[in-house]
Amino acid sequence: MVSLSLSLSLSRCCCCSNKFTTVLVASVLLVVLVSFPEVSASPCDFPAIFNFGDSNSDTGGLSAAFGPAPPPNGETFFGAPAGRYSDGRLIIDFIAQSLGLPYLNAYLDSVGTNFSHGANFATAGSTIRRQNTTLFQSGYSPFSLDVQSWQFSQFKARSQLAYAKGGVFKDLLPPEDYFSRALYTFDIGQNDLTSGYFQNMTTEEVKAYIPDVLNKFTIVIKSVYGEGGRFFWIHNTGPFGCLPYVLDRIPLMAPQVDRAGCGVPFNEVAQLFNLKLKETIAHLRKDLPLATFTYVDVYSVKYSIISEPRKHGFEHPLVACCGHGGKYNYNVRVGCGGKIKVNGTEVLIGKSCGEPLKRINWDGVHYTEAGNRYVFDQISNGTYSDPPISVRMACHKQLQ
Ligand SMILES: *[C@@H]1O[C@H](CO)[C@@H](O)[C@H](O)[C@H]1NC(C)=O
Ligand SMILES: *[C@@H]1O[C@H](CO)[C@@H](O)[C@H](O)[C@H]1NC(C)=O
Ligand SMILES: *[C@@H]1O[C@H](CO)[C@@H](O)[C@H](O)[C@H]1NC(C)=O
Ligand SMILES: *[C@@H]1O[C@H](CO)[C@@H](O)[C@H](O)[C@H]1NC(C)=O
Ligand SMILES: *[C@@H]1O[C@H](CO)[C@@H](O)[C@H](O)[C@H]1NC(C)=O
Repeated sequence: MVSLSLSLSLSRCCCCSNKFTTVLVASVLLVVLVSFPEVSASPCDFPAIFNFGDSNSDTGGLSAAFGPAPPPNGETFFGAPAGRYSDGRLIIDFIAQSLGLPYLNAYLDSVGTNFSHGANFATAGSTIRRQNTTLFQSGYSPFSLDVQSWQFSQFKARSQLAYAKGGVFKDLLPPEDYFSRALYTFDIGQNDLTSGYFQNMTTEEVKAYIPDVLNKFTIVIKSVYGEGGRFFWIHNTGPFGCLPYVLDRIPLMAPQVDRAGCGVPFNEVAQLFNLKLKETIAHLRKDLPLATFTYVDVYSVKYSIISEPRKHGFEHPLVACCGHGGKYNYNVRVGCGGKIKVNGTEVLIGKSCGEPLKRINWDGVHYTEAGNRYVFDQISNGTYSDPPISVRMACHKQLQ
């Protein structure tokens, strides 16, 4: 559009050597350049994505290590479980797709994987800090963010040794220059906040350890930077006080619930974490001037659909689509895809509601494909980014 109108005005004046027209064209040019600063920045052409995180962006990690997410996970898009805790795609899938890249395979997945355009180190239940319990005791993943960064270092080193052998490895692994040109995405922190609550800590106690969580986050970012990572796209944490698994497991008194039905203290903790995350990223920008950091306010988008679902075509925002019983259709003992034995026969009771396209919450913890798509559509063009940069421009510090 911009270049079209420009060339039209230029050709129209080619036969008139009128001073006024020249001035007019010059000012049109000026206005165009000033009001469309993005014309001078070109899209980044990221050749790969390396993702770190928890279940919000796990595309098969926990499934590979501890057994597959059961059906009906995957029912909407993949038609079968696909290592994701959702009926379909996650935000990271929409990001990959929008950059023209394949969906990311999990680093931990040893069967049928292709890492030529990136790898995913996220696993469901991951935290930034190491937890002092096992998955079997508390449900938190052993692949905390520091472990994910070791896996990334190892992936980088060993993939290059294999790539150098040529043959099929060249078709399955990224060449070295992709590591400095790739987009590094992060979506982690929610489980660090819930873990304190599930250990019966008070809100004040949870708030008190947030600085330690963010110190650990900084260490990992610097480690990835040390490996050559330059372009960071970092999601803040969502309003976990609106999620059935939190509302069901940690009941609140009436005044602690807002008009949307979300738990106020939990969301305050999420917002405090996000404020500190933003400050942490500001420090990282100073410490690592060769890198670009985009902070993405996923919280606001998620809270807006949950608090005004009808406006966006959704219903029952606090009720899990796939689950079993109770106010939130969530039962900590029988999850989505959960079965019980009735007279010696296994019966599926963690069923899908059948209309996940109308729902935001999939299984009490995670978002539906429709919810994830909505969030992606809002965040991808930079409206919720600081600085306000879209995902395809995220190699630029600012648009000029
Ligand atoms: C785990 O235990 C260590 C040693 O007591 C402590 O420093 C650390 O904060 C604990 N981690 C968490 C997540 O509670
Ligand atoms: C891996 O994926 C890339 C991109 O989709 C593709 O070009 C390449 O052929 C794949 N490698 C193999 C061995 O299938
Ligand atoms: C938290 O409190 C509940 C209820 O008193 C108790 O059943 C549970 O064992 C406690 N959890 C921890 C980790 O202390
Ligand atoms: C289980 O078996 C008993 C005895 O045959 C029968 O009365 C009962 O209805 C069965 N329960 C279900 C849920 O099928
Ligand atoms: C970004 O995308 C959203 C959703 O499509 C749209 O509502 C919004 O106007 C867009 N903002 C800009 C700056 O393009």
